[in-house]
Amino acid sequence: MNFKEELEKKTGEVEAVVKRYLPAQEGYQRRVLEAMDYAVSAGGKRLRPLLMRETAALFGEAGEGLSCFMAAIEFIHTYSLIHDDLPALDNDDYRRGRKTTHVVYGEDIAVIAGDGLLNYAYETALRAFDKAETIEAYQRTAHAMHILGRKAGVYGMVGGQCADLLADKPEAEVTKDVLLFIHKNKTAALIQAAMTIGAVLAGADEKAVAQIERCAENIGVAFQIQDDILDVTGSLEVLGKPTGSDEKNHKLTYVTMHGLEESKRQVEALSGEAVGILRTFPHRNAFLETLAEQLIYREK
Ligand code: FPP
Ligand code: MG
Repeated sequence: MNFKEELEKKTGEVEAVVKRYLPAQEGYQRRVLEAMDYAVSAGGKRLRPLLMRETAALFGEAGEGLSCFMAAIEFIHTYSLIHDDLPALDNDDYRRGRKTTHVVYGEDIAVIAGDGLLNYAYETALRAFDKAETIEAYQRTAHAMHILGRKAGVYGMVGGQCADLLADKPEAEVTKDVLLFIHKNKTAALIQAAMTIGAVLAGADEKAVAQIERCAENIGVAFQIQDDILDVTGSLEVLGKPTGSDEKNHKLTYVTMHGLEESKRQVEALSGEAVGILRTFPHRNAFLETLAEQLIYREK
C-alpha cells in the first residue's frame, strides 16, 4: 500500500471512531446537537486523532481508552473552528468547502454548538476511565486528561488565540516572538496534546513524552506556517475556503514577517527535525514519519 492509500484507509478508520462518539440528535436541544453534528461531519483531515493513534502505535498498546481521546480532540478542534469563524472573530463564511456553522444555524446556535462540543469532548475523554482495567491504565488516563485540559486551555490553544486576537488590533506591536508564541499555542498545543496523549496512553516514559512534545511543537508550527503560505499561494477550489483572507484582514503572518521563501525553508527545517526525533525511538512508524514530512507538501 502506498502512503496515499494508507492515509485514506486510516483517515476512514479515524472518521468512524469520531462518528461513533457523536451524540444522537434528539430532545429539545436537538438544534444544537444538529449544529454540532454539522460542524464535525464537515470532514477535515482528522489530523489530530490520526497523529494521536499513530504516536501511540510508536510505543505499543494504548488500550480501549484511546478512541475516547481521539474523538475528544477532534471535538475540541471542531469547536475552535466554529468559534474562530464567528463574525466577532474571523468572520469566515466557508470552511472545509461548506458554509460555516453560524451561516447555516445562526450565530446564537453556533456559539453554543462550540460550547456543547467543548464540554462533550471532556465527557467523551472521561469515558476512557470506564475502559481502564488496571491501576496503570487509570493513571495514564488521568495524565492524558491533564494534558488535554492544559493544552486546549489558556496555557495552550485559548492562550494562543488570545494573543492572536490582540495582535490583530491596529495598535498592536507584533514581534517575531509574539508570532511564534501564537503559532506554538494556537496551533501547536493541540497537536502536542494529540501526540503526547497517544504516547502516554501507550506507556511511553517521561523522556520519550518530552521528545514527542518537542516533535509535535515542530509539526504544529510547521503546519501553521504552511497554513499562512497556503493563504497566499492556494485557491478556493483546493482549500475549500477563500484565500487572501489574512491579507484582507491585514493579518501579520509568518509570510508577511519572514517572506515566502524563508517561510518555506522554515517549514522544511521544522518538519525535518520532527521526523529526526521520530527516528530516535526503538520502534519506527514509517507512516507517521511520512505524515510529518507530508506537511511540507500539503496543499490544503
Ligand atoms: C486548521 O486545521 C486549523 C488550524 C491551522 C488551527 C487554527 C486554530 C484555531 C482556529 C484556534 C481557535 C481557538 C479558539 C479558542 C477559538 P486543519 O487544517 O486540520 O483543519 P481540518 O480539520 O478542516 O482539516
Ligand atoms: Mg480563521
